[in-house]
Amino acid sequence: MATVTFDKATRIYPGSTKPAVDALDIAIEDGEFLVLVGPSGCGKSTSLRMLAGLEDVNGGAIRIGDRDVTHLPPKDRDIAMVFQNYALYPHMTVADNMGFALKIAGVNKAEIRQKVEEAAKILDLTEYLDRKPKALSGGQRQRVAMGRAIVREPQVFLMDEPLSNLDAKLRVSTRTQIASLQRRLGITTVYVTHDQVEAMTMGDRVAVLKDGLLQQVDTPRNMYDRPANLFVAGFIGSPAMNLVEVPIADGGVKFGNSVVPVQRDAISATTDKTVTVGVRPEHFDVAGPESDLGLAVTVNVVEELGADAYVYGTAKLGGDDSKDLVVRVSGRDVPEKGSTLHVVPRAGETHVFSTSTGERLSD
Ligand SMILES: Nc1ncnc2c1ncn2[C@@H]1O[C@H](COP(=O)(O)OP(=O)(O)O)[C@@H](O)[C@H]1O
Ligand SMILES: [Mg+2]
Repeated sequence: MATVTFDKATRIYPGSTKPAVDALDIAIEDGEFLVLVGPSGCGKSTSLRMLAGLEDVNGGAIRIGDRDVTHLPPKDRDIAMVFQNYALYPHMTVADNMGFALKIAGVNKAEIRQKVEEAAKILDLTEYLDRKPKALSGGQRQRVAMGRAIVREPQVFLMDEPLSNLDAKLRVSTRTQIASLQRRLGITTVYVTHDQVEAMTMGDRVAVLKDGLLQQVDTPRNMYDRPANLFVAGFIGSPAMNLVEVPIADGGVKFGNSVVPVQRDAISATTDKTVTVGVRPEHFDVAGPESDLGLAVTVNVVEELGADAYVYGTAKLGGDDSKDLVVRVSGRDVPEKGSTLHVVPRAGETHVFSTSTGERLSD
């Protein structure tokens, strides 16, 4: 087992002037499950491939434990990688697929068999060891790919969107299996996904990337409760956090007809006249049409989920300005389409961001 350190690691592809990954700085703990997440093209795969040794590092360094691996070939890094397309050898059995890397490394047959059988047991693949990949389901193939990594007993697992070829239901069950397997084996893991739900449910910590730049590294809880900037605020959470630009008022911010108190420091630090306030859908107090508090929201669509319902509506801001909002309400008390609600952010549940820089201003 080992720590993994990205030390200002930078990748600039030939012919490009802008780094695909720009001075990435993350210290991953021994045994940690770290998820790299962000929209397509943000540099997730490039980061992982730099760690694997499949991509040159043009600045900074990468370390596994105390070893500087920045310029080591992949085979000397003691890592195992699981890709999006598992690339199993079609003509080999499951057992041979799983044991292939050991065979190449010159491990003797009996030992290979023993390691493959152990991994197959962990992955529930024992009865499929003699089959060819084409006779397996997508989920089973995915587990063979995992098995291939496990038998090597590497210091670090690298996984690049390993669930993206599975259907939605299997993806959910497999993500639980991978997370619990990783915890059982205790092998440091760097996992890449574009899916923030996957990131939040699987990771000990989550690192959010945008345009090759690290935005925040934090536990899922902190990432949700204290997003560092507007990008993370909008990216983490589903439905997304509501982000509304509002005027600064005496003692708080003006949210429609109400002044919502926010931390004094958050608004005294800025010279702007407005800030952007973030409110998660579950953090509004909701009143009926007779109220004149907060913002008036016209209900466009209601998504009923049983216990809760999400109201998708349009709020009138000053002048001709309007803003779409999502508000969670009780499933037992669902407003009608076309009706009006008044919403006020619950005290202490707002996030204040600088509209100009996007940085978080509140604690
Ligand atoms: N081999 C390559 N040559 C040039 N540019 C590349 C190459 N691979 C990726 N890129 C570019 O680098 C950026 C990051 O890509 P990538 O790491 O694959 O993103 P992600 O995995 O987050 O979708 C993108 O702009 C992509 O177009
Ligand atoms: Mg990718």
